[in-house]
Amino acid sequence: MELPHHKILISKEKIIQRVAQLAKDISDEMKDENPLVVVVLKGAFIFASDLVRRFDFPHQIDFISISSYGNATKTTGVAKILKDLDEPIKGRTVLLVEDIVDTGLTLNYLYQLFNIRKPKKIEVAVFLSKMARREYQIPIKFIGFEVPDNFVVGYGLDYKQQYRSLPYIIGIDE
Ligand code: IMP
Repeated sequence: MELPHHKILISKEKIIQRVAQLAKDISDEMKDENPLVVVVLKGAFIFASDLVRRFDFPHQIDFISISSYGNATKTTGVAKILKDLDEPIKGRTVLLVEDIVDTGLTLNYLYQLFNIRKPKKIEVAVFLSKMARREYQIPIKFIGFEVPDNFVVGYGLDYKQQYRSLPYIIGIDE
């Protein structure tokens, strides 16, 4: 599939540098917490794998998959859980790892869902943030980059399930 008209917003080199710094920040904060790292499928899988390979402290990894309503470029709501966590989180520190926070609907949904299970605390790490479109305010401690309000693809993020493996971030003109 040919790439739609695009420009590179974040280079591979900048991503590597920023993710290394985030991993260090998270290590400083969580080294004594033995957190459960929860990767939100599918988009966060590359960000999460680069992050955890730089963690130098004990942690476990789990995955959650949710489906959302909407078309290729606009989310309109969270539909249901496709795959829930395997691990209980009661009393544990959770590091929720997501690809991008846009309106905040998805993270808000996950945050509420996890809170019911009474974890010790929930911290959030997102690779990208589109501040301009935020509707739900969730405390996010670790943010990779702020991006403008256009559809972005690469480093795990897809357009119609394509381009997740691009090592950089591009903005697509719709
Ligand atoms: P939110 O629920 O509005 O915060 O949207 C978050 C979800 O929408 C992310 O987990 C992505 O799956 C998807 N999403 C939002 N913006 C983009 C984008 O620019 N590129 C790819 N996926 C996006």
